[in-house]
Amino acid sequence: MALATRPEQRDKQSRETQRPARPRTAVGRLWQSTIGKKTVMAVSGLFMLLYLIAHMAGNLKVFFGPDDMNGYAHWLRTLGEPVLHHEWALWIMRVGLVAAVVAHGVAAYQLSRLDIAARPVKYVHRHRTSYAARTMRWGGVILALFIVWHILDLTTGTVNPNGEYGRPYENIVATFSTWYGNVIYFVAMIAVGLHIRHGFFSAAQTLGAGSPTRDRALKATANGLALVLTLGFLSVPIGVITGVVE
Ligand code: HEM
Repeated sequence: MALATRPEQRDKQSRETQRPARPRTAVGRLWQSTIGKKTVMAVSGLFMLLYLIAHMAGNLKVFFGPDDMNGYAHWLRTLGEPVLHHEWALWIMRVGLVAAVVAHGVAAYQLSRLDIAARPVKYVHRHRTSYAARTMRWGGVILALFIVWHILDLTTGTVNPNGEYGRPYENIVATFSTWYGNVIYFVAMIAVGLHIRHGFFSAAQTLGAGSPTRDRALKATANGLALVLTLGFLSVPIGVITGVVE
């Protein structure tokens, strides 16, 4: 015998299947909205941008010789001591960076799915997806792959031809003494520049900083940041290739 369902139960069931459950918390509701995902992308992107500015500036220590560069890497590990234990500050930063990368990637993926789902008619991607959107998606994938390679190269030393712990100077010289090391880093540095150029401007618009009077200044800032970071990062392999760093 079929089980009877009361009318109010049926109503409840159909309501539940029609609409996704509304998240209870403000954070959950924000995450579910398009603007919420864009805000997550903007904030995590700006956090990573700050890290990149500091990282690029720190890398320039390579031009002052092995003692300065290796001493700087050692200082990073002792930062915050004795209040914090050895390497704790570094690990706090790493956890923050991983959280930012994951949040940025997941929000980007979900936004691109929503974008596809919102299209009334399926069309050939090549013709309609904007140049910037395509560059951002592919650039993001290239950067994610690069970060994995880069950590195996200069943090763990696994794929580095020298791979000595605590000696980033020698490891950097070893990387840029190989043709593939240079190819990987040059491609990644150009991807970083293009990503920041578009990403910084988009983030500013999402966070409400854009206006007809400010947009020119924001675009100039985005271009300036992209150029300084790309050239700053590229100066290291160029230094090794030209023999300035050896
Ligand atoms: C020529 C360019 C670059 C050089 C020479 C360089 C150098 C280094 C070195 C030596 C380390 C190890 C630091 C240490 O363990 O003390 C490192 C770590 C790292 N770099 Fe770079 N880097 C470059 C570009 C980049 C770029 C473009 C990104 C991001 C897109 C990046 C992200 C990272 C991250 C996430 C780490 C891991 C930090 C950690 O050890 O926890 N780097 N880099």
